[in-house]
Amino acid sequence: VSTAAKLSRHITLNIPLVSANMDTVTESAMARAMARLGGIGIIHRFLSIEKQVEEVRKVKRAENVIIEDPFTVPPEMTLGDVRAFMRREGISGVLVVKGGVKKKLVGILTRRDLLFETGDHKKASEVMTKDLVTARPDVSLDKAKDILHKHRIEKLPLVSKDGYLAGLITLKDILERMENPMSAKDKKGRLLVGAAVGVKSDTIERTGALLKAGADVIVIDIAHGHNLRAIETTKLLRKTFGMKIEIIAGNIATPEAARDLAKAGADGLKVGIGPGAACTTRIVTGVGVPQLTAIMDVANEAKKLDIPFIADGGIKNSGDFSKALAGGADTAMIGNLLAGCKESPGEYILDRGVAYKYYRGMASYDATREKVEQDLAARGGDAQAGGGADGFFRSPEGASGRVLYRGEAGMVISDLVGGLRSSMSYLGAKTIKEFQKNAEFIRQSPSGQIESSPHGVK
Ligand code: XMP
Repeated sequence: VSTAAKLSRHITLNIPLVSANMDTVTESAMARAMARLGGIGIIHRFLSIEKQVEEVRKVKRAENVIIEDPFTVPPEMTLGDVRAFMRREGISGVLVVKGGVKKKLVGILTRRDLLFETGDHKKASEVMTKDLVTARPDVSLDKAKDILHKHRIEKLPLVSKDGYLAGLITLKDILERMENPMSAKDKKGRLLVGAAVGVKSDTIERTGALLKAGADVIVIDIAHGHNLRAIETTKLLRKTFGMKIEIIAGNIATPEAARDLAKAGADGLKVGIGPGAACTTRIVTGVGVPQLTAIMDVANEAKKLDIPFIADGGIKNSGDFSKALAGGADTAMIGNLLAGCKESPGEYILDRGVAYKYYRGMASYDATREKVEQDLAARGGDAQAGGGADGFFRSPEGASGRVLYRGEAGMVISDLVGGLRSSMSYLGAKTIKEFQKNAEFIRQSPSGQIESSPHGVK
């Protein structure tokens, strides 16, 4: 079967999964893992513009056919500084160049060159390999592979006819391409990544910086997406960035909202008010729509509008995932199930032999408090003085706590996609579209529900 699906009007994924724009779920490590597996991650917005841009940049640099703008250092840089630079950028080698905009390649420093070099004060030019194997920028990937193999090297700098640096091909990128044939990539062969923005005064500046860093899609992240500010922001982003931006707007739960946001210029929608594992919106406010109902209601309208949508929240297993798609969603967004993975931000916590990671709703007490404190600190005040003992946030709409550590995201994703593929075969469907066409929902009694889970097995 094919699990390819539309994330938005102009972006197709190879698996219909999106990691949630939450600060305990998606930064660059999770986004890289998601795109390598064929889905996409949305970098959360609770970071300064610079830090969020950096996270996007790390994903876009992770895998390339050709790295157009490789990291370089000048010949006089000390090894101590080169090492720190390589550590910071997470790279295993660096090109040594002379010159500014147009760079003359003079050498290369790889981990092997540095391995037994003890003197941190030596200059790059004293230690670098000067005898370089290079190729022209228009070299084919197969030819590049041959050169890497023939010379038993891992990095192939590309040099133009007049001798200037024009790019780099690495063995690591080639191997990653071979190992992850499903990965979701842009036209330049770089992994896909999305980024979330809010509806505040910095939205245009943030969006511009994220697009410049290569973000493929911008998600307008607001708890109540059928709201004038969300509609105005969607219009403003479309007006400012034209067709250079792919916009997903949300969150919503009704066909009317789908219509208004599509009309405002959205290329995709995000559906879910209160279904998430860490959501308390329905309890605190009484507002929301059961997720399968919301999906089915929006699906009818979305089909007419020809706009794809994400089912966001509440997925506990591959059965839920399959039902969300069968109900009409194009893709599903996952928070809780991925928060326990190695690639989510933060370290794991070991408690009496069991490993956990921290997960919190973005409207939880913890998250809101942190946001208010950061905002106040940025404005030079302190939290106590700003709000008083209970002054900041009286009604959090999210929970926080720990979730079981689940290992690598690849394992969680493979369980979810495996379940979906099996579900598709039960329904005789080769594509998600056929799956939706063939799906039939029946009402289930509480007894039926009990029967649906394992029972009588100790
Ligand atoms: P799961 O069930 O996958 O859901 O953990 C992730 C989605 O939950 C939403 N979310 C929240 N909803 N209060 C809410 O009512 C919150 O504090 C909160 N934080 C996240 C969000 O849509 C996410 O993608």
